[in-house]
Amino acid sequence: MRQSLVVGNWKMNGSAASIQSLLEGIKQGIATVNKTAVGVCPPYVYLSQVSTSLAGTPVACGVQNVSEQDSGAYTGEIAVSMLKDFGCRYVIVGHSERRNIYGETDEVVAKKFTKTQAGGLIPILCVGELLEEREAGNTENVVQRQLDAVLNSSGVAALSNAVIAYEPVWAIGTGKTASPQQAQDVHAFIRQHIAKQDAAIAAKVQILYGGSMKGSNAAELIAMADVDGGLIGGAALNAEEFLTICRAGD
Ligand code: PGA
Repeated sequence: MRQSLVVGNWKMNGSAASIQSLLEGIKQGIATVNKTAVGVCPPYVYLSQVSTSLAGTPVACGVQNVSEQDSGAYTGEIAVSMLKDFGCRYVIVGHSERRNIYGETDEVVAKKFTKTQAGGLIPILCVGELLEEREAGNTENVVQRQLDAVLNSSGVAALSNAVIAYEPVWAIGTGKTASPQQAQDVHAFIRQHIAKQDAAIAAKVQILYGGSMKGSNAAELIAMADVDGGLIGGAALNAEEFLTICRAGD
């Protein structure tokens, strides 16, 4: 049985004050979450605040992006080694906003994935299709291409220490959630694709759903056989809503 995982992706939201009250709310309610593993990914500038506040709690800290380089003259970038100073556990890699707004290619995403693991952190690899790709019947091709970029460069064994997030781009921030069956179909496809190379790793890897998951729909999504939790954007900015989703993973 795979443990559920729910990770909040706070994106470029919040202030020191609003993040402090979000953290207090999560910490106050986290005891109501029984089995689900929980993490939050704040904007970088609040990482110190968040990791200090969450120290000693079951809530893990992560980030939304990382450099594919080790160190040096890369203005504006953050290295994996720096994240270790803050006790980070997760790095979101290849989020569709990184791919589509900032032009990250499959190749760059694969490098970030490799760097994250080499530095001892757990990548959360995001895959997912655009609306026009779904409408053209290309969902599986797109997701397979995005997965293969990582499988070909890191090897299937790397997935024994990684998380995958299926995030249909048309569902992100739109309030248009994939139906439980739509999510399950792609999650099953991802697991079967990995199983062609290693059935044991495929059976173990956590595959999260992301895209307008909220308190009111989390339970029916996570109830699907291959949906192991969620990567949560908007609904993660409210402590009660986020905790409701976490409890849905129990
Ligand atoms: P959303 O974002 O929950 O606001 O749709 C999810 C994500 O982008 O990870």
